[in-house]
Amino acid sequence: MSGATVPRPLPAAISRTIPQPRPSAADPILDVRDVTLRFGGLTSLDGVSLRHGRGSVLAVIGPNGAGKTSLFNCLTGAYRPQQGSARFWPTAPASPTSPATPASPASPAGASVLAGVGERGVDLVGRSPHRVARLGIARTFQNIRLFPEMSAVENVQVGVEVRARAGALRGLVPTRAVRREEREILERSHLLLDFVGLRHRVRWPAGSLAYGEQRRLEIARALGTSPSLLLLDEPAAGATASERRDLVALIRAIVDQGVSVLLIEHDIRLVAAVARSIVVLNFGRVIATGSPEQIRSDPAVIEAYLGDSDDGADDGADDRAGDRAAGQPGDGADGREGRR
Ligand SMILES: Nc1ncnc2c1ncn2[C@@H]1O[C@H](COP(=O)(O)OP(=O)(O)OP(=O)(O)O)[C@@H](O)[C@H]1O
Ligand SMILES: [Mg+2]
Repeated sequence: MSGATVPRPLPAAISRTIPQPRPSAADPILDVRDVTLRFGGLTSLDGVSLRHGRGSVLAVIGPNGAGKTSLFNCLTGAYRPQQGSARFWPTAPASPTSPATPASPASPAGASVLAGVGERGVDLVGRSPHRVARLGIARTFQNIRLFPEMSAVENVQVGVEVRARAGALRGLVPTRAVRREEREILERSHLLLDFVGLRHRVRWPAGSLAYGEQRRLEIARALGTSPSLLLLDEPAAGATASERRDLVALIRAIVDQGVSVLLIEHDIRLVAAVARSIVVLNFGRVIATGSPEQIRSDPAVIEAYLGDSDDGADDGADDRAGDRAAGQPGDGADGREGRR
């Protein structure tokens, strides 16, 4: 992303479609307790607990294979952990008089999804990916998952339609309301592309975009579902220094819209620029939690990364111990995501 495309505040039309809670870090959006995930004899997550305050960025870091993506998969319904809970407090439905857009939680569909969500929130464990998305959680993937033949705007439309009212009936019954909703979906998709700095790529096939642009397109598609919690799995992987700076601006702009972010990222400097709190995983366990400053000087964290480096898993190109967290910031292709 060039300097000229750094995200601007969202236009009013799009702001209306992203839930805007009164953010308070004391107000939890997610409370993960004792999550344990095993694959045969391998324990991928071992009693993981963390708490995420609404309206902020919580970063999850850790050496390769630490369990970061597995945690995302447990939160989004791709994996079902054997043990533990993950309570989520969706954004409360907006006032019934606020504009009902296709993706607004004020819409009948949104309200029914949130019905029955009390003070205890909802447990995400065991819910299907579709249900989790409708509750207001969206994610991007470590290995980019776009529809490469479809245009950028069509990819975003897929996200926006997740919370649309007409759903499957859209193609069957082209009423005036359905046509209006289609127009709104298209308008919103364009606004989101603008927001992530891809206005000039609207009609381009997703597969023809540069790597960094594809990552931003995935973010636009995820935002299309009007999440109150956005999970980003290594959004800076493979990014240039200037793309990393722009990503920092984009994440801040997303949080300014009232969306809470859970961020997996290896670059501790990028993490420190957006997150006040970090959780460190190693071998499936939480080994430290704290501010970026606390984490950088935590002996257990330093040990975990040095061990990772000794194993040859570090990229070896960066000697700033405790500065660059660990791992090769490539696409991290692991071929495991989404498998049950
Ligand atoms: N579907 C699966 N089947 C078997 N093992 C799995 C599966 N998914 C994850 N694992 C294992 O769980 C552990 C954690 O993997 P995970 O992908 O969550 O790590 P990560 O912290 O995201 O690593 P990276 O930084 O490399 O992306 C690894 O040992 C991995 O091999
Ligand atoms: Mg991963």
